[in-house]
Amino acid sequence: MVVRAIAASTVLFSTAALAQGITSTKHNFQSQTNPVHVDPSATEDGICVFCHTPHKGASSLLLWNHTFSANNYSWADVSGGKTTGGTSYPTNVRTWTGSTAKCLSCHDGTVSIGAIYWSNATASPTVTMAGTDVGASGNLNNASYIIPDQSTGTDLKGNHPVGVPYSYDQAVATYNGISTGPDVKLAQWVARPTGVRVFGSGGGGAPAAGAAGIECASCHDPHGTGNTFFLRVTKSGSQLCLSCHIK
Ligand code: HEC
Ligand code: HEC
Ligand code: HEC
Ligand code: HEC
Repeated sequence: MVVRAIAASTVLFSTAALAQGITSTKHNFQSQTNPVHVDPSATEDGICVFCHTPHKGASSLLLWNHTFSANNYSWADVSGGKTTGGTSYPTNVRTWTGSTAKCLSCHDGTVSIGAIYWSNATASPTVTMAGTDVGASGNLNNASYIIPDQSTGTDLKGNHPVGVPYSYDQAVATYNGISTGPDVKLAQWVARPTGVRVFGSGGGGAPAAGAAGIECASCHDPHGTGNTFFLRVTKSGSQLCLSCHIK
C-alpha cells in the first residue's frame, strides 16, 4: 500500500510538469514564430492533426496521421549489426509498430511536415508549410534536427539504439523480434526505470519482464516536458542516462 501511494504521487507530479504542454514547443506547427510552421494561407487548424487523427489514421496504435517516410533505416557502420552487448540492431524500424518510425517520418527530412493522412473528411489534404527550416517540399531541412545521416536519410550510425529490448527486471527480454544479447550485463540495468518510458511488446502498453523495449519516445515526450529537447528526464548530472544504465 505504501509503495502504491508513493507511485501515485509521483505520477501526479510528472503530470503537473507535463501540463506545460505542447503549445509552447517546436512541435506547435501553428505557431508562426517557430522555424517550421503552417503557411498563413493553409486552412488546416489545430496542433494534434499533424500527428494524430480521430479517424482513418495509418495505424490504430497512436491513431497516427503523419505520412510515413519510404526510407528503411540501419546502423550501417556496426560490425555484424550488433551492439557491444551482442543485441542485434533492428533492420525493420520503418514497419515496426513502435513510435520510432513515427518520429523519423519527420526527422529523416524527406517528408513534408504537412503531409497527413486525413483531415476535414478529406484524404491526404495538402497543408503548405513555411519557415526558415523548411525545404522545398515542406520537409524539415535543418541538419541539426535530422537524425539519420543527412546524405542518405537512412543511416542511423552514431545514434543510441532504438527498437531494441530493455532488460526490465534485469531479465533477458524479447522486443521487436530481437532478444537481449548474450554479453549484456543484466545487473547493469535499472530494474524498473522511472521518468523515462519503457514500452511493452508491440511498442505500446506496459513493460514486463521478458517483454520490454525502448524507442525514441523512451527519452523524449513529443508533447513537451519542461526540459530542453522534450527530454523526459533532464540530462543535467547524467540523470537521463542513469535512469536506465547503472554505471
Ligand atoms: C509532433 C507529433 C505529435 C503531436 C503534434 C502530438 N502528438 Fe501525441 N503523440 C506523438 C507520439 C510520437 C506519441 C507516442 C509517444 C509515446 O509513446 O510515449 C504520442 C502519444 C500520444 C498519446 C498516447 C500516449 C500518451 O503519451 O499519453 C496521446 C493521448 C496523445 N499523443 C495526444 C495528443 C494530443 C491531444 C495532441 C494535440 C494537443 C498531440 N498528441 C500532439 C506525437 C505527437
Ligand atoms: C509532424 C512532424 C514531426 C514529428 C512526427 C516529430 N517531430 Fe520532432 N520536430 C519536428 C520539427 C519540424 C521540429 C523543429 C525543427 C527546427 O526547429 O528546425 C522538431 C523538433 C524536435 C526536437 C527539438 C526540440 C527543441 O526544443 O529544440 C526534438 C527533440 C524532437 N523534435 C524530437 C521528436 C521525437 C522524439 C519525435 C517522436 C516521438 C518527434 N520529434 C516527432 C517535427 C516532428
Ligand atoms: C537514450 C535516450 C535518447 C533516445 C533513445 C533518443 N534521444 Fe534524441 N536526444 C537525447 C538527448 C539527451 C538529446 C539532447 C542532446 C544534446 O544535448 O544535444 C537529444 C536530442 C534530440 C534532438 C535535437 C537535436 C540533437 O540532435 O541534439 C532530436 C531532433 C532528437 N533527439 C530526436 C530523436 C529521435 C528521432 C530519436 C529516435 C530515432 C531519438 N531522439 C532517440 C536522447 C535520446
Ligand atoms: C530508456 C532507457 C535508456 C536510457 C534513458 C539510456 N539508455 Fe543507453 N541503452 C539502453 C538500451 C536498452 C541499450 C541497448 C543495450 C543492448 O542490448 O546492448 C543501450 C545502449 C547504450 C550504449 C551501448 C551501445 C553499444 O554499442 O553497445 C551506450 C554507450 C549507451 N546506451 C549510452 C547511453 C547514454 C549516454 C544515455 C544518456 C544520454 C543513455 N544511454 C540513456 C537504454 C537506455
